Amino acid sequence: MEHFLNSLPKAELHMHLEGSLEPELMFELARRNNIELPYDTVDQIRAAYNFGNLQDFLDLYYQGAAVLQTEQDFYDLTWAYLKQCETQNVIHTEPFFDPQTHTARGIDIGTVIRGIDQALQHGREQLGISSRLILCFLRHLSEDDAALTLEQALPYRQHFVAVGLDSSEAGHPPAKFQRVFDKARSLGLLTVAHAGEEGPPEYIWQALDLLQVARIDHGVRASEDPALIERLVREQTPLTVCPLSNVRLRVFDKMSDHNVLELLQQGLRITINSDDPAYFGGYMGENFLALHQGLSLTRAQAIQLSRNAFDSAFVSDDEKAALQARLDNFVAHYRK
Ligand code: ADE
Ligand code: ZN
Repeated sequence: MEHFLNSLPKAELHMHLEGSLEPELMFELARRNNIELPYDTVDQIRAAYNFGNLQDFLDLYYQGAAVLQTEQDFYDLTWAYLKQCETQNVIHTEPFFDPQTHTARGIDIGTVIRGIDQALQHGREQLGISSRLILCFLRHLSEDDAALTLEQALPYRQHFVAVGLDSSEAGHPPAKFQRVFDKARSLGLLTVAHAGEEGPPEYIWQALDLLQVARIDHGVRASEDPALIERLVREQTPLTVCPLSNVRLRVFDKMSDHNVLELLQQGLRITINSDDPAYFGGYMGENFLALHQGLSLTRAQAIQLSRNAFDSAFVSDDEKAALQARLDNFVAHYRK
């Protein structure tokens, strides 16, 4: 099963590039940029990754991201992630980045976007991995700050296809960002939002109705609201679920408690993703494997989850068909 899950062609639709910063690269960039880290060893960093909730994680995640300074740093971060994708047959990815985490430290948004974009382009040319970039606003900051960020990003408009909403969910409802999302859509950008990770089902309704999102990131708390489940099934709104993240951030106590396969069974368009792979114990392959180990994920379910992700990607119908064809070909020929 491990070989099958690793070989399965996959798409990733919910991954924060800053969350793919492995401790080894964090040390290397700290050295390169003369930044003092509050750790002496990689083991010390990993030992600190013992989170009680989302905020515990975010505090360390923002601290870690401070080592990212130059265009080369953002390139190296993105390239390391793409190399992981290559080893696990992730053939399409739509990563998030958090510009405000960097502009707040005086780093130009162009430095961030150019470094990421260059690596994504090399990923297409050298690794055959297609990609689209998504710019996320930090919801613990003001809507005005998000609007300023969107404006700063406009010279790089051709490098991203959507905007998203992440960071501390509780107390920061989607409604707070309605105007900046209106503006983004008027520019032709698609929208997504984290909702129903720690926040209530009401935030999922708001993301759908007020932000008009094309996908919900996480969304696992939809299970508390039957009318919402009915709508998500009817509209086939994709949910980008992150199993290892949810267990590490204690949304569920253990993988065997996770509701993801129940949601799939109910007819929701569920996809599997890694969220912050360097912090939560694994990339796409490890997330699929954890579902097999904790919830007895079958091959047929894994194929369906992968199909859902290709269907939910922000690409043309032709590109979707080409991705699905690679999955079909794998399914027809896999022997082991
Ligand atoms: N930023 C990075 N990972 C996140 C998550 N799981 N929830 C909210 N914001 C995030
Ligand atoms: Zn996330």
